[in-house]
Amino acid sequence: MDNSVFDHFRAVGVIPVLEIDSAAPVAEALSAGGLPIAEVTLRTDAGLDSIRNIARSLPDVLVGAGTVINLKQAQEAREAGAQFLVSPGMAEDVVTWAVSNQIPVLAGAVTPTEIMCGINFGLPLLKFFPSETLGGLKAIKAISDPFPQVRFIPTGGIHLENLADYLRMEKIHAVGGSWMAKRVMIAEGRFDDIKRLAGEASEVVKRSRPYVSVQPQSVILLANS
Ligand code: 3PG
Repeated sequence: MDNSVFDHFRAVGVIPVLEIDSAAPVAEALSAGGLPIAEVTLRTDAGLDSIRNIARSLPDVLVGAGTVINLKQAQEAREAGAQFLVSPGMAEDVVTWAVSNQIPVLAGAVTPTEIMCGINFGLPLLKFFPSETLGGLKAIKAISDPFPQVRFIPTGGIHLENLADYLRMEKIHAVGGSWMAKRVMIAEGRFDDIKRLAGEASEVVKRSRPYVSVQPQSVILLANS
């Protein structure tokens, strides 16, 4: 699997989760603020076109597909230019296909059984969703103790105020969230607000984990090579 994508998640610290109604300069605003990653969810009809658009026009942004729930979506997203795939749960056909094609995949796992399933697929990173509803940091700590070989990317209820607490926990590789680019903000064209909120998140990442020294740009070049 292409671990440079996972290194990039670590370096940037926050993966913006986007629900986009039309291809929009949202990824550009996020990148300008310091978050050059876009997880474009396949929850709207515009998802695939948005991935295609970002992949073609913004080579410095690491673009992936979110809410991938079946193999057809995974294959279409890859064809559109997605550099990584995210599934809310342990979608076994998606994970099997991604692993055998060396495509970085982040699958949801919130029970010991699901975590063991992910480990047996060889996944080094798992998504923990919906994090705050399931108990947040306390739940992640309790459930991850028996599994030192995996790290987590929690999403769901994470925002600027609790971001630092998440990032300081050793088991957490990065977080995902939509707070800096909500669907309504994108629809209203509030790209300056998106850039500002991305910048604030990026500052919290730097303050919380000054020891992470990977340069996102060099990692992206690797991911595209
Ligand atoms: C996801 O798909 O990962 C979540 O919808 C993101 O959760 P949030 O909207 O609470 O940030």
